[in-house]
Amino acid sequence: MRCLLFLLLWGLPQIWRSSEVPQRNFPFRCLQISSFLNRSWARTDGLAWLGELQPFVWSNDSDTIRFLKPWSQGKFSDQQWEILQHLFWVYRSSFTRDIQEFVKMLQIAYPLEIQVSAGCEVHPGNTSESFFHIALQGRDILSFQGTSWVPAPYAPQWVKKISKQLNYDQGTKEAVQLLLNDTCPKFVRGLLETGRSELDKQVKPEAWLSSGPTPGSGHLLLVCHVSGFYPKPVWVMWMRGEQEQPGTQQGDVLPNADETWHLRVTLDVAAEEAAGLTCRVRHSSLGGQDIILYWEQSSASVGLIAGAILVSLLIGGGLLTFWFKKRCSYQDIL
Ligand SMILES: *[C@@H]1O[C@H](CO)[C@@H](O)[C@H](O)[C@H]1NC(C)=O
Ligand SMILES: *[C@@H]1O[C@H](CO)[C@@H](O)[C@H](O)[C@H]1NC(C)=O
Ligand SMILES: *[C@@H]1O[C@H](CO)[C@@H](O)[C@H](O)[C@H]1NC(C)=O
Ligand SMILES: *[C@@H]1O[C@H](CO)[C@@H](O)[C@H](O)[C@H]1NC(C)=O
Repeated sequence: MRCLLFLLLWGLPQIWRSSEVPQRNFPFRCLQISSFLNRSWARTDGLAWLGELQPFVWSNDSDTIRFLKPWSQGKFSDQQWEILQHLFWVYRSSFTRDIQEFVKMLQIAYPLEIQVSAGCEVHPGNTSESFFHIALQGRDILSFQGTSWVPAPYAPQWVKKISKQLNYDQGTKEAVQLLLNDTCPKFVRGLLETGRSELDKQVKPEAWLSSGPTPGSGHLLLVCHVSGFYPKPVWVMWMRGEQEQPGTQQGDVLPNADETWHLRVTLDVAAEEAAGLTCRVRHSSLGGQDIILYWEQSSASVGLIAGAILVSLLIGGGLLTFWFKKRCSYQDIL
């Protein structure tokens, strides 16, 4: 019986914790950004993400994809990579040419911004999912699904024409399927091995408190800054004791330049209720030891400054009365 109780007490927080930090996946996403300013000016830039890390970048100014990580080639041989690189190079130049042709044919107006997002995610048990989406001026217009091109539901009429035409091209469709179903998962499995230690790294956050711009008279905006952590999932909450404060506002988790993250979590409170509040940070790197920051500590400096001003006012006031009194008394004497 005691054993069961112990198991429950020990087991529950474990279950709770593990449900909070879900199983991590590392989707592989290639992003292509193509800008067409007019009929003669175009550029295409690309980059790729594996989970939160960026192993590749491809500038329009370069003929080759640049590796940003020592493990970027995964388990592909130089020759396999060479073939892939050539394929992408052909794709890039024919993409530009094809778009320029379509624009001429359909008399679409410049400038155009086209974004392509494609990639795959491998799952345990040798299964994978892949995706290929195309957006125009920031809106989805076309995607590759299963074995063919499918226009987005609200895409303009001419996209339907293009998609029909693309679907006649059996060769390209087969090539896309091979890339999505076979090459991509194979390559990503390799990357997950060669990049494992960096993908699985744990970097601890730093946290500090400050006060933001006063939200209204008699109110304080308490700001909890959390920065420098990896991976991205994090839990930050303003608390009173064990009570989560429902007014807690969580900002976006934003990237730092060094592949870590930061965010700001704020709470708008009546000034007299600020004392005793804490900011609590939970992150996988902390091994169950949450960071807890007390508002008193950081507000101490604010208090100190206010106190110092008050004291100097009092002393100043005291000196002034003293001087005044003295003067008066001298005057009385004189
Ligand atoms: C296209 O745009 C570029 C960059 O703004 C400009 O230098 C060039 O003259 C333009 N060409 C035409 C044909 O309008
Ligand atoms: C982008 O690359 C292509 C092919 O190398 C080149 O012809 C084009 O001028 C480049 N565009 C810009 C804006 O540099
Ligand atoms: C995974 O599946 C692919 C085909 O979908 C196959 O070529 C490969 O050998 C499989 N790998 C393993 C480890 O079963
Ligand atoms: C590729 O995968 C899709 C499902 O995602 C499937 O419908 C299609 O038949 C596959 N193609 C090949 C050539 O394996």
